[in-house]
Amino acid sequence: MTAITQVHARQVLDSRGNPTVEVEVTTKAGFGRAIVPSGASTGEHEACELRDGNPSIFNGLSVMNAVNNVNTELFERVKGMDVQDLKTLDMTMIELDGTPNKSRLGANAILGLSMAAAHAAANEKNMMLWEHLNPKASRMPVPMMNVINGGSHADSSVDFQEFMIVPLGAASFTQALRFGTETFHALKKLLKEAGHSTSVGDEGGFAPNLGSNEEAMNFLVAAIERAGYVPGKDIAIALDPAVSEMFEGGMYHFKRSGGGCKTSDEMIELWEKWVRDYPIVSIEDGLDENDWEGWKKFHKALGKKIQIVGDDFLVTNTKFLSRAISEDAANAILIKVNQIGSMTEAMDAIHMAHDAKWRAIVSHRSGETEDITIADLVVAMECGQIKTGSLSRTDRIAKYNQLLRIEEALGDKAVYINPFSTTE
Ligand code: PGA
Ligand code: ZN
Repeated sequence: MTAITQVHARQVLDSRGNPTVEVEVTTKAGFGRAIVPSGASTGEHEACELRDGNPSIFNGLSVMNAVNNVNTELFERVKGMDVQDLKTLDMTMIELDGTPNKSRLGANAILGLSMAAAHAAANEKNMMLWEHLNPKASRMPVPMMNVINGGSHADSSVDFQEFMIVPLGAASFTQALRFGTETFHALKKLLKEAGHSTSVGDEGGFAPNLGSNEEAMNFLVAAIERAGYVPGKDIAIALDPAVSEMFEGGMYHFKRSGGGCKTSDEMIELWEKWVRDYPIVSIEDGLDENDWEGWKKFHKALGKKIQIVGDDFLVTNTKFLSRAISEDAANAILIKVNQIGSMTEAMDAIHMAHDAKWRAIVSHRSGETEDITIADLVVAMECGQIKTGSLSRTDRIAKYNQLLRIEEALGDKAVYINPFSTTE
């Protein structure tokens, strides 16, 4: 009953209007469908997203080779395999690909099948995906909501990519969503009053042209207060400056704001100042992805005070994660399923992080779709934090809405814990 009978992939579009892979998996008793996300500020060591590269078709971004790999070679190999044993299925596909970064068949092909198979397995049991993956799960995630978009996600004068609000003082996920949404609307009013644009960037956050990166921080604090909340107590701030995008020739260049450039040590000094001046609980990719010495210094300087998250730095890969754990180079990892290219490997990275008493944060990509797999994944893995964008645009809201459904299904069992209330 649980053996794969049919696999079908097609090319669909993501939230930026670029092609991506959708996969459907059918068994005798179940059906699952999933769509693969896509990043813009990608880490150098991510698994390979196979694109066709013909400039006259979708600007080279079509994914028909990945789609065909699912429909032919991958289907032939996984036909008859058990969707209830996702690990064996994923390992079989990885072996069939045969490259270290899934560049032959495409991480987008393998991940699409992996996710769809997980959904089919849950569907067979008539369960929500989180429940199928972990029936004992009860922890709802604290959302990091990206309400100001800069860097590679917007055409604005803000260098840093993500300015997020974190409603850690809420009593439940449902209430956290309300806190965040009210702050998002307060921010819109404040930006309008100051004569700024309120159009949004790739992750649904505002993308105004501000005078400096600090001005974005001041707007965040003002919006939290305007919405009636206490900065730091009800709602804190998390940052993903994604500075690998700003790193060139050994220096960090503040091109968008015209603020000159900084060394690695000067970046750490900037983060120390910001942590003193603002209610910051988390900084992701505060240094370049290859600056291991810098990361160690950064962690030493601030690791007791805040969460230091590796995204481009660790690319959801246990190889980089185990090195970072042994070298004390951060204290949290961002988990993006398409950075590594299978559900099993993403879950392995979460387990490795938790075993080392690190935190793991499940994340979307800037190119998303209506797929809601990560909402179930974050609950099943009891990570306690999710990054899934701002409070506008359905590609972001779809995940929040799924989390509302999950919290409702959990009922009295649901717990919402402030992950920053205890030090490591
Ligand atoms: P990406 O960025 O999805 O555009 O790569 C998101 C992030 O850096 O967290
Ligand atoms: Zn990031």
